[in-house]
Amino acid sequence: MTETSSPTDARLATFEEKVANDQRIEPGDWMPDAFRKNVLRQMSQHAHSEVIGMQPEGNWITRAPSLYRKVVLLAKIQDEGGHGLYLYSAAETLGTSREEMVQALHEGKAKYASIFNYPSLTWADIGMIGWLVDGAAIVNQVSLQRTSYGPYSRAMVRICKEESFHQRQGYEATMKLAQGSAEQKAMAQDALDRWWWPSLMMFGPHDAESAHSGQSMKWKLKRESNDVLRQRFVDQTVPQAEFIGLKIPDPDLKWNEERGSYDFGEIDWDEFKRVIAGNGPCNRQRLQHHINARQEGQWVRDALRAYQRKRRTRDLPGDLPGNGGQR
Ligand code: 3HC
Repeated sequence: MTETSSPTDARLATFEEKVANDQRIEPGDWMPDAFRKNVLRQMSQHAHSEVIGMQPEGNWITRAPSLYRKVVLLAKIQDEGGHGLYLYSAAETLGTSREEMVQALHEGKAKYASIFNYPSLTWADIGMIGWLVDGAAIVNQVSLQRTSYGPYSRAMVRICKEESFHQRQGYEATMKLAQGSAEQKAMAQDALDRWWWPSLMMFGPHDAESAHSGQSMKWKLKRESNDVLRQRFVDQTVPQAEFIGLKIPDPDLKWNEERGSYDFGEIDWDEFKRVIAGNGPCNRQRLQHHINARQEGQWVRDALRAYQRKRRTRDLPGDLPGNGGQR
């Protein structure tokens, strides 16, 4: 059945009335195919981003400068993995399996956040990822708590609770460096120079160039535009940089009293397009690592499925084997 001929007007009217009344659209509700497709696109890419985002930070677990930093980094990375799994589960309510979503990623048919295609070269990068990347993610995800698709909205409420810890630990690690030796401060400034502009790209293209924003805003999937959220991130982050004595790498950055916001320079959209087209510094490495990890972990998924099949046929108790010899 096609979109225009199939659903009775009544069902479309009910859907539109729920959106207009700020009610959540739930998995069992009728929804236009285009809505389902758009929500799945955004949620699955969000989930991919959480999981692939573990890689640049994972590179520093064994090289963290202290046990304390290692423990905090481990906790944060575990959170990100959990966010990914949570988002995949929420996205599966749209009728597409996690396997299909991951397959789309591996075949280059689904994206993940451009920011995770940059290398984490020094320990200062780990502070920057927490402070800037998670800082930008919080701005975006707090807004998404009000998204119209129920499972996505609830996932955001839960994830935002952990994101504030992520941002604070990153800012605290950066502050330590910025207030440390001259070499440490230089390392923090170098990382800020490399991560600032890619962090602004996280909010997507300008609203006028955004392919999805118009419809996503109509459906209240997106509650605030790319540029509005980007501006909010700049306005909150610049004072934080000044407080720890670091300089934002933007000669056009200046406070605009009239607007009550910072004016800032133009993003290098050619770089943005290169990176999301797969030609960023680490795209191939990140995707190949994800593919390898998936393949190496296939035996675990096969074993669990085999056990579940056996349990179903022989009505075995719920425990996994090896629990004191019981079945
Ligand atoms: N990276 C990769 N692709 C991007 C992008 C970015 N930073 N910004 C935009 N794009 C892509 C879009 O996916 C879309 O491509 P598609 O049609 O193939 O999906 C195209 O560029 C056009 O962009 P639009 O603005 O029209 O797309 P959206 O309306 O989807 O807006 C978005 C882009 C603001 C990123 C939106 O998708 C969104 O809010 N997503 C949810 C948040 C998210 O995914 N964050 C990623 C980071 S997660 C993270 O940082 C976790 C933290 O804990 C570390």
